[in-house]
Amino acid sequence: MAEIIVALDVNSRAEAEAKVRLLGDAVNFYKIGLELFTAEGPDVVKAVKAFGKKVFLDLKFHDIPRTVERSVTSGGKLGVDLMTIHSVGGKAMIRAAADAAAAFGETGPKILAVTVLTSLDAGDLADIGVAGRTPAEQVQAMGRLALDNGAAGIVCSPKEVRAMREILGPAALLVTPGVRPAGAAVGDQKRVATPGEAVRDGSTHLVVGRPILAAEDPVAAARAIAAEMAAAR
Ligand code: C5P
Repeated sequence: MAEIIVALDVNSRAEAEAKVRLLGDAVNFYKIGLELFTAEGPDVVKAVKAFGKKVFLDLKFHDIPRTVERSVTSGGKLGVDLMTIHSVGGKAMIRAAADAAAAFGETGPKILAVTVLTSLDAGDLADIGVAGRTPAEQVQAMGRLALDNGAAGIVCSPKEVRAMREILGPAALLVTPGVRPAGAAVGDQKRVATPGEAVRDGSTHLVVGRPILAAEDPVAAARAIAAEMAAAR
């Protein structure tokens, strides 16, 4: 059953705790990204875990294998459930992250790979030396590289999820931001899908920020999205 992950796109621990408290039982999984982690450090991860919630630590590691391995170990010790790396870090780096995560056993962190940042287009890829592949082809190749080297899944747009499910098989975690319930404000997202569409296409986790946190009634918004996801199975 697919899960909602609420993006804690705030920059203080107090605000993060207030959101988690407000959502209560309606949400069990939270994403902590670079902004919040850089502001508050591991204490904010501990604070969210102290509510009994799962944490997706989205720091997108990209470094030499030993550094990434040790950083994943640090995340595992914090009790993090999902962590991201960049698949362009290469095979050895992906494997080092996956092995460090696996050392925590079944309840340890799972490694997700970022394939191609959605902010990059074909011209940007050419600038960094990725020639001869469209962004979509690069996403597929990087997804395959990540899964072949021990990553549990990838982060991808809801528009890519159906193709990636076919390419990566039934076990892959497919974590999709860019989810908007029908009628919700799209904001700065360009390629969105409804929660039902994302789940039907194969998403295992939907990362949702503003549609829940900026809603008049965030608990009701979260419950409505969960109901739409359950109905789409
Ligand atoms: O508020 P909204 O639902 O758009 O938040 C989506 C979250 O997912 C944000 O934390 C955003 O940074 C993240 N994300 C995204 N698109 C990507 C990767 C991450 O929207 N390609």
